[in-house]
Amino acid sequence: MARVLITGGAGFIGSHAASALLSAGYEVGLLDNLAPQVHGTERHRPSYLNRDAELIVGDITDSLAVERALRGADMVLHLASCVGVGQSMYDIAAYVRTNELGTAVLLEALSRRPVERLVVASSMSIYGEGLCRSIDGLTLAPAERPVAQLKQSQWELTDEQGRLLDPIPTPETKQPTLSSIYALNKYAQERMCLIMGKAYGIPVLALRFFNVFGPHQALSNPYTGVLAIFAARLLNKRRPLVFEDGLQRRDFVHVQDVARACLLALESRHGDDVFNVGSGQSRTIQSVACDLARVMGRPDLTPDITGKYRAGDIRHCFADIEKGRGVLGFEPQVAFDDGLDELAGYLADQIAEDRAEKATEELLQRGLVA
Ligand code: UD1
Repeated sequence: MARVLITGGAGFIGSHAASALLSAGYEVGLLDNLAPQVHGTERHRPSYLNRDAELIVGDITDSLAVERALRGADMVLHLASCVGVGQSMYDIAAYVRTNELGTAVLLEALSRRPVERLVVASSMSIYGEGLCRSIDGLTLAPAERPVAQLKQSQWELTDEQGRLLDPIPTPETKQPTLSSIYALNKYAQERMCLIMGKAYGIPVLALRFFNVFGPHQALSNPYTGVLAIFAARLLNKRRPLVFEDGLQRRDFVHVQDVARACLLALESRHGDDVFNVGSGQSRTIQSVACDLARVMGRPDLTPDITGKYRAGDIRHCFADIEKGRGVLGFEPQVAFDDGLDELAGYLADQIAEDRAEKATEELLQRGLVA
């Protein structure tokens, strides 16, 4: 039986990937430092983790722990990362240490003890703004919106003549535009893995995850994705706080589809490439706030459209998933509404500490929300 090591395996995506791999007949080892921001100060083995997965508690930057975790592994799924875009803009050393040095430590260990395949989690954050179409039908890669524009609450992307741009799906060929330390880290991770994989003959695939949602997302982690943040507020009977005008678009992909994409990438014969992992559909943040409130039985808690903005936020990005469909056979299977219903069932048993306001305060103090 082949063994897969999942770094960051006790987290949200790792736990689902572990279950998918175990169901497909793999042995699974998880290396995780049980970071308090995600797992709480007691740092117990999470109850949602599949019992058949072996948990090795250790840090990705600790070469001895990584070597121990790699024993017997045939393949590696590298998910261990700090994942908050906002937090990456002030906890810079911690982000670079875990995300870049951690990947370096893993790759050094793999250079001594190669595996058959390495799959690394990258992110849509590397794209910056997604692709757009101009009124003349031209495909454009818009630049970041200037702060002066955001200060005037002019949220939409426009061309040089001030005409509105229409967002379109973003394929893997779009050039990266790195506008946060996190995005820089993720791009470094995927490039480091691809470069070292080529040098040591290890086939590498980097998966660029879009906005992943589903059960096990850490509700107490204020730097997690927007759906978990909204859920924590709704559980505390508070209205979701929406930045800008709420009409920014994202691609919400269910975590089970992401876990399936990881399995397909590990089982593929294809190497040295990057793939988007999204649903291929776009939704506005305002609409998902309303949808979540409805499935949680609180349609009265309508979104609070704040008109504030977060530094480094992009306006629109959603995935073109044709490449993954063709090469990996990746087809998202969980419909958004079904995923939300399931999330509501999971949330019904959760007590969430709503720390999002504190996190927004922290960003405000640093001038990262205005
Ligand atoms: C970012 C990263 C993505 C990463 C994800 C989770 C980019 C382009 N993408 O996505 O790679 O996986 O974070 O760390 O940087 N929002 C609100 N209210 C809130 C929180 C968020 O309105 O309380 C809005 C944001 O302004 C944004 C949207 O919701 O427009 C999505 O935010 P978020 O879930 O943080 O993810 P992204 O910024 O899309």
